[in-house]
Amino acid sequence: MTPLWGGRFTGANDPLMARFNASLPFDWQLWEADIAGSVAWAKAIARAGLLTEAERDQIVAGLEAVRGEIAPDPAAAFAAAADEDIHSYIERRLTERIGPVAGKLHTGRSRNDQVATDVRLWLKWQIRGQGPGVRDQASAFDLQPPTSNLQLLLFDLIRAAVHRAEAEIAVLMPGYTHVQPAQPVRWGHWLLSHAWAWQRDRERLTDLVKRLDVLPLGAGALAGCPFPIDRAALAADLGFAAVSPNSIDAVSDRDFVAEFLFWASLTGIHLSRWAEDLILWSSREFSYVTLADAYSTGSSLMPQKKNPDALELLRGKAGRLVGGLVGLLVTLKGLPSAYDKDLQEDKEPLFDAVETLSLALPVAQGALETLTIHPDRMAVALGDELLATDLADALVRAGVPFRQSHHLVGQAVRRAEALGCTLRDVPLADLQAISPHFTAEMAAVWDFERSVEQRAAAGGTARSAVQAQIARLRVLCE
Ligand code: ARG
Repeated sequence: MTPLWGGRFTGANDPLMARFNASLPFDWQLWEADIAGSVAWAKAIARAGLLTEAERDQIVAGLEAVRGEIAPDPAAAFAAAADEDIHSYIERRLTERIGPVAGKLHTGRSRNDQVATDVRLWLKWQIRGQGPGVRDQASAFDLQPPTSNLQLLLFDLIRAAVHRAEAEIAVLMPGYTHVQPAQPVRWGHWLLSHAWAWQRDRERLTDLVKRLDVLPLGAGALAGCPFPIDRAALAADLGFAAVSPNSIDAVSDRDFVAEFLFWASLTGIHLSRWAEDLILWSSREFSYVTLADAYSTGSSLMPQKKNPDALELLRGKAGRLVGGLVGLLVTLKGLPSAYDKDLQEDKEPLFDAVETLSLALPVAQGALETLTIHPDRMAVALGDELLATDLADALVRAGVPFRQSHHLVGQAVRRAEALGCTLRDVPLADLQAISPHFTAEMAAVWDFERSVEQRAAAGGTARSAVQAQIARLRVLCE
């Protein structure tokens, strides 16, 4: 395969070098973005007087024909190709179709500004689901990765959490810190704690699009375009919000990949933490939840096993996502100005992160929607000790400073231990021996519903406060 840069070479690449250098095995995914970028570029150089209208039309029609030949089965189209990269592939097919006029397309353009443009365009499509061939979930296992819609997938997951939180708002469970039972909470309140993390992920994703949505095309190899290209019109044609302000930066910059991989890592970490809670609670010792068969697997050795594999994989994928981020950051560190071939290493972690989350998000949603909860088991786990803080708060309402009331209840806990009973069952006389501030009316604290309802301040566990969260998330997810 003749490379795009053969002129000054007399010898061919060593076959190992050709394999080492080739990016087509993975960057073929950019094919549609590459064609879109080339169509817009042909129009831009025609506007600048570098192509006649007839030449422009020939090139555009040729590119459309190449699109038509790839579209039915991209994986098959690229399987046998030996081109260096997707840009070389598209240009070769264009030349084979329309002849030497294809050689005018690359005027004023470099693969450096071309690849940066392709990746930005491709990623915008994956985030917004606006590109060609929007992914429907059923086709997630196709060899040909269709365009994803990460914003929508996150949105659907949050909505599933909000829906469950509202439907099961009455269910109470122990809340934990340090994995130790702490205070009663609503199950829905716990669920929404994760929905808020996912909501921040949505916001971060929208925010990074501002920096992604900048067009590098027209920057040339590094020094800009010597022809009078209207870059604003080019950006408008390709649907970019702005043009890069500096040609060196345009071809150097992979911040948008790093930011996206950070976003993917943090989203993965959020899924992982959510999954970890449920893994623990699906253990027989807790049995607060049962994962549906659809999201579990068995053991090849132990017939009784039902393992929470969906949740474990969600937890595990976070490591892979963080690995992609760290790999890219290390690649970028100390990299000389402008384009260096090291930058080819941005693609595999990026493609992998998109693919990983395109599966992980709907799997998390499915696991959540089909999960069975066991409110009776949660109720059994609600021990009286979870209300110790409420007893201290009752003393506060009777005028005792909190530091002191905390200490008095601590002494009551010790008394309970000495008597071998729970805090609730310590006789009033024993409590009053500790402090005369303990009264018979304080027995009202031994009520879990009352405890969660007391926390009606914004962000708390009271039904009204949880409903307020639900209402806010509903507005955000409209
Ligand atoms: N495959 C290359 C990449 O992914 C395309 C850009 C090549 N540019 C160059 N000057 N060799 O980065």
